[in-house]
Amino acid sequence: MATTLPGSWYADPAHHRRELDRVFRRCWVGVGLDTDVAEPGSYLAATVGPVPVVVVRDAERTLRAFLNVCRHRGAPLVEGTGTARALACPYHGWVYRLDGSLARAAGVGNPEEFDPSCSGLLPVAVTTFARSVLVNLDPAAAPFDPGPLAAGLAPYRLEHLEVDRRDRYVCRANWKVLLENYSENYHTPFVHTQLPAAGYEYPMECDGPVVFAWDRPLAPRDRSEEALARFRPRDAGWAGVADCPAPEPFNNGAYVTVWPNTMLSMFHGFAATFRLTPTAADTTIVERDYLWDPGVPEERRAAQYEATRDVVAQDLRICEALQRTYDAGCSAHGVLSTLHERGVAHLHGLLRAALGEPDGG
Ligand code: FES
Ligand SMILES: [Fe+2]
Repeated sequence: MATTLPGSWYADPAHHRRELDRVFRRCWVGVGLDTDVAEPGSYLAATVGPVPVVVVRDAERTLRAFLNVCRHRGAPLVEGTGTARALACPYHGWVYRLDGSLARAAGVGNPEEFDPSCSGLLPVAVTTFARSVLVNLDPAAAPFDPGPLAAGLAPYRLEHLEVDRRDRYVCRANWKVLLENYSENYHTPFVHTQLPAAGYEYPMECDGPVVFAWDRPLAPRDRSEEALARFRPRDAGWAGVADCPAPEPFNNGAYVTVWPNTMLSMFHGFAATFRLTPTAADTTIVERDYLWDPGVPEERRAAQYEATRDVVAQDLRICEALQRTYDAGCSAHGVLSTLHERGVAHLHGLLRAALGEPDGG
């Protein structure tokens, strides 16, 4: 029987530090969008848990990442996003090439045994997946492997979408409250009463770091809806979902959670990414990016954005209410739905494995 996690796992600072250490320092963590570092010389500063990192596209277009920590006395080199020919430290002016090597340490004199070639920025593993940039702080990390469910993303042709809007807000909830909220739609008919729940099922598959759910129309109206209704993300017939219209915002969507902090909602001609950066046990920065097929008219974008904003506000309200439960020292000691909360149970399994905790304990 899958049960809820102890309330203290959402509120206790000591437990939170353990998660930062065992999850965020060891997993592939989303830090931004590929468009942030598309051009040679572009950079993106982010934090993984508390750890500052910088992702850079070098002059040869190779994507690189480093600790955003100057090798002199540790100042962060850059903030936010931008472009540069080299990374210059704002504190004493040491300069690093975009491959991380130290180019200049003017004024350092002749420290005994100082070897500039050993004073480059410390590298961090980096990759991209489904338009997100992922980094891994663990020097022994295996390459990112989304597993077989990644095939289910291909029909959505994410690489052709353009970013047209980005939101960032602070939520007073533990990162897992938000992750779990995204990874089930048990709550949809109750929290999002305006959404069309009737006429759909919500199948879900879990494999490796991915939870993949989608709207299955119970009475498909055309061939593309039949693809959603009949096939699963790993099937060849799934490719037909590419043409499946979304007549209303949140019709015929696919919803992907990538452990531990990245989510992606995909519709015909539209996708939204959703990234969580914990800043404390009870506080998380949420970043949302909206990506559109260039041919989609402004009215549809505006309608989707408005509908999404309402849904996000409803989710935030319930997530912050749950956090108050955990902050008060209460636990639900609940069970998870075998129908609707398989994804949540899967994510809990990944968390317990990362923490070295027994299953379902
Ligand atoms: S801390 Fe960067 S140059 Fe001194
Ligand atoms: Fe929701």
